[in-house]
Amino acid sequence: MSSLTDLTQEDSATIVRNLGADAQRFAGKTVLLSGGAGFLGRHFLAVFRRLNESVLKQPCKVISVDNYITGEQSGAAETTHPDPHVVNVWADVCYPLPVREDLHFIMHAAGVASPVYYMKYPLETIESAVQGTKNLMELARRNPKLEGFLYFSSSEIYGDPDPKAVPTPETYHGYVSSVGPRACYDESKRLGETISTVYQQRYGVPVTIVRPFNVFGPGMKHNDRRVVPMFTYEALNGRALPVHGDGSQTRTFCYITDAITGFLKVLLKGKPGEAYNIGNANNEISMRNLAQMFTKLVPGSTLNTIPYPDTYPAGEPQRRCPDLSKAAEHLGYASKVDLPDGLSRFIAWARGQESYR
Ligand SMILES: NC(=O)c1ccc[n+]([C@@H]2O[C@H](COP(=O)([O-])OP(=O)(O)OC[C@H]3O[C@@H](n4cnc5c(N)ncnc54)[C@H](O)[C@@H]3O)[C@@H](O)[C@H]2O)c1
Repeated sequence: MSSLTDLTQEDSATIVRNLGADAQRFAGKTVLLSGGAGFLGRHFLAVFRRLNESVLKQPCKVISVDNYITGEQSGAAETTHPDPHVVNVWADVCYPLPVREDLHFIMHAAGVASPVYYMKYPLETIESAVQGTKNLMELARRNPKLEGFLYFSSSEIYGDPDPKAVPTPETYHGYVSSVGPRACYDESKRLGETISTVYQQRYGVPVTIVRPFNVFGPGMKHNDRRVVPMFTYEALNGRALPVHGDGSQTRTFCYITDAITGFLKVLLKGKPGEAYNIGNANNEISMRNLAQMFTKLVPGSTLNTIPYPDTYPAGEPQRRCPDLSKAAEHLGYASKVDLPDGLSRFIAWARGQESYR
């Protein structure tokens, strides 16, 4: 089980600093967060606790909902100083939520995000993105005081982009299979974007869409199966890092402080109906080179090139790198943490977690 250690508190402090005066928009407001027990959700909760503790003139109430399909039941509530304004509720967004109070912000981060898990739960993956989005949009429609709705899409909606479209701008329409092994995730996220856009155009729901590019940071579970926690877990336990295929596939990795800052900027300052890439365009690296970086950061670790395992969905994109010029122009977003620094912070945090040993 991961805990909110000093490191994540330091991360929350950084995010709050990055937000500056914009954070006051949350003062005295009510936020509904879906997926609050997940990796990003727990960081959002830590940020709201920190805002309530030391920044906001009036506290912000946060209703966090999760059905714990992959989230940690204890993780969402875990803190040495519980905040009475942050409430954790078991709820499945695939069913209408009986929320009676006025909402000012909704963030729909519930989903099945890790490839190994969306292969295991394909229908649940589709439902959280499609039915879940529609239910939350209906809730949004009934809330005339709503100031912002943030829909969590994914960089995976671009599929395996044409090399000419890398770095990938928001205007790229994607190259995605509707029947491939990743379709339950890619296609449902795409439909979630469509639903969001229809509710914005037809009913004026102030929705913005974020397309995150591979976020990592403290709080990712050792068995999450995304590459950074997986490599860390293997390295800390003296096992060779499993590099799938020839290891030439690239990703960009965005440290959690940059990502959460970017997401909240999209919520607070994004143009309704628009999608924004959030990530770190400076950090594109092949999986082989990433594994090599780990061997330097965790002395004694080695890497091993292996065929793709059956549990991993085939057809992964060869390159993924965001064009962040829209986020820079509209929101003043710029990533700050480079990959070796972010990885060192992540590994230092993981070393302190029982589950990683
Ligand atoms: N972390 C990333 O790098 C990244 C990248 C692209 C997109 N995203 C998207 O951002 C969102 C959050 O990502 P994350 O990394 O925190 O994922 P996560 O898997 O760690 O957390 C998602 C949470 O949603 C919950 N959930 C799933 N279905 C639900 C349902 N029907 N009702 C209520 N709760 C449900 C899960 O239990 C889990 O706690 C997801 O939608 C994901 O697809 C994340």
